[in-house]
Amino acid sequence: MSDKFFDDLQRAAKHAYDNAYAPYSNFSVGAAALTFEDKIITGCNVENASYGLTVCAERNCLASGIVQGEQKFRTIVIYTETSKLTPPCGACRQVISEFLEPNAIVSATNQLGERVDWSVAELLPDAFTPKDLE
Ligand code: THU
Repeated sequence: MSDKFFDDLQRAAKHAYDNAYAPYSNFSVGAAALTFEDKIITGCNVENASYGLTVCAERNCLASGIVQGEQKFRTIVIYTETSKLTPPCGACRQVISEFLEPNAIVSATNQLGERVDWSVAELLPDAFTPKDLE
């Protein structure tokens, strides 16, 4: 991913972060995914008074892409304002594995522009994917 794409994704993820609904954890998360046509799709975490119904930023981001007719993504960036960059949770790793290739890059970044990259396969080795249903 070029630096320009990363900067655009980071900005978009920060915008989503600003809209996060996280009154219970006070832990806002934004995410931005890039399609193969260079379209940016965003999502934030949405919590609920029934805590277990919370949906993470990454899953809302990818679901929003699906709503917009996108089913394949080149990369996804996770944005938090924390010194320890935020890795995707286990449920999000599974959903990321559904829509991004094993060698696609997942990045975490923060307000300082710090960044860590993982491949999808690194985050979830031997993932159960649509190929397993063939
Ligand atoms: N959260 C995300 O949005 N993404 C992750 O990968 C980690 C956790 C959210 C869920 C919840 O709203 C808050 O962070 C604290 O767990």
